[in-house]
Amino acid sequence: MEKQWWHSAVVYQIYPRSFCDSSGDGNGDLRGINSKLPYLEKLGIDLIWLSPVYLSPMKDNGYDIADYQAIDPRFGSMADMQTLIHTAKQHNIGIMMDLVLNHTSDQHQWFQQAKQSRDNPYRDYYIWRDQPNQIRSIFSGPAWQFDNTTKQYYFHLFADAQPDLNWENPKVATEIQQMISWWVEQGVAGFRLDVIDLIGKQIDQGITENGPRLHPLLQQMHQACFANKPLVTVGETWGATPEIAKLYSNPQRQELSMVFQFEHASIDWHPIHGKWQVQPFDLIELKAVMSKWQTCFDGDGWNALFWNNHDLPRIVSRWGNDGQYRERSAKLLATLLHGMQGTPYIYQGEEIAMTNVRFEDLDDYDDIEIKNSYQEKVLEQQSLSHQQFMQGVYTSARDNARTPMQWDNSVNAGFTHGKPWLALNPNYSDINVANALDRADSVFYHYQQLIALRKSAEYSDTLIYGDFALLLAEHPQVFAYVRQHQQQRLLVMANVSEQEQQVGLNLSVEKVVLNNLQQNDELVSDLEALRLAPYQAIVYALSTS
Ligand code: GLC
Repeated sequence: MEKQWWHSAVVYQIYPRSFCDSSGDGNGDLRGINSKLPYLEKLGIDLIWLSPVYLSPMKDNGYDIADYQAIDPRFGSMADMQTLIHTAKQHNIGIMMDLVLNHTSDQHQWFQQAKQSRDNPYRDYYIWRDQPNQIRSIFSGPAWQFDNTTKQYYFHLFADAQPDLNWENPKVATEIQQMISWWVEQGVAGFRLDVIDLIGKQIDQGITENGPRLHPLLQQMHQACFANKPLVTVGETWGATPEIAKLYSNPQRQELSMVFQFEHASIDWHPIHGKWQVQPFDLIELKAVMSKWQTCFDGDGWNALFWNNHDLPRIVSRWGNDGQYRERSAKLLATLLHGMQGTPYIYQGEEIAMTNVRFEDLDDYDDIEIKNSYQEKVLEQQSLSHQQFMQGVYTSARDNARTPMQWDNSVNAGFTHGKPWLALNPNYSDINVANALDRADSVFYHYQQLIALRKSAEYSDTLIYGDFALLLAEHPQVFAYVRQHQQQRLLVMANVSEQEQQVGLNLSVEKVVLNNLQQNDELVSDLEALRLAPYQAIVYALSTS
């Protein structure tokens, strides 16, 4: 396949409200991010995916945009944004903006106009009906809200403060394209497109995801905004199968660079209660899913690799071990992911193995999804008890990922001098960046090594383009795979358990490339006799003969 610069890039996601507060108002901001660019450069990343910083009433922390071309005062000013784009470039880092195109905030001028009267010129920017249908909001309850002034219902797949745009109206596409092109002119490196699989919806047929107009709309957007520019684009597509992912990311089709698919990220969800009641984690299933996505493209698509984002719990608490083996299991998870084919994404705090949080009181949480789901599942339907729901919050709620970044062990972890908008995880006195930077064997330096390997002259072709083959598919504790490019073969071996594991492999080792335990290479070089310690992960170069 034709090589692209973003094939070898590593992305770091920043959730701005929780990253670093320079002003003391308790909210992270752009100047705070700017001050941490040297840290990110040291880690070795190429791109920052910046979750929304646009003007917003923050009903969904910026995923409810009131003006796409203004910065929310909590985050700073447009001048701060320009400074960030410019300064990041000097650190060899590009900025990817988050485009929320399925909906706006109800405070957006378009919606403010639209709800004034049925014949307002902006009325058709949104979706109005005399009668609601059965479609439900992803944030619980009906997807329709009655507007008293104009006596019609408007459609919202998320909160009622997030009305869906009407992509059937060509004016919406034109306005959005102009806005995107304006951001391109500001010098950004690319975009993440929020819930993009929803824009082709056909409401009256009950179709929300993957509607018939989705791909034509994306091709049009590509032509208008992305074509012949060195931009990277990634779509958030919860329900994508490999076939669907190819429609977006096959370079011939000129839509997006890659998509986030979530098949692996939802394998432990309950069939009815979803993330609020997770099932035991099955490594065999995870391996099958990951392996399927590693082998399905063969040049006509590209993977985005991720364990975490602002909507998912912390991976070390989820599939690692956030107690005794916190650091070792975090390194293992990092090794497994960064050994694969695709563009890796690191979510803020993952590089120091930040963990899930446990607040006793529901009021200490902020997320609208938690609040709406509690209302529906516990108070209205009574399908989950308070206790069961809290358990779900501790394992899966989005706020697990949103507690402020832990920079050091001073008050509020060096995140803010003010009162943080969301309480910190009290474990910041141990788990923090300063501590990680001080220790050569920290999770931070493991990520740094993985990124450096991906860019090294010796292994980059194999890590970026090498074929993937899963080994030991039926082994319930060991995740092992080989990447091969021309004559070079890399083996990744990981023991995803608290017990020692012995698996004899008839392969011969040329060299140990990376080990998350400090050991003499000779101790682990005989693959027939290898005993993997709990959560041990090793990358080997295999002999060519
Ligand atoms: C995406 C975002 C999520 C947001 C939702 C609505 O899934 O990642 O945070 O709540 O879209 O915009």
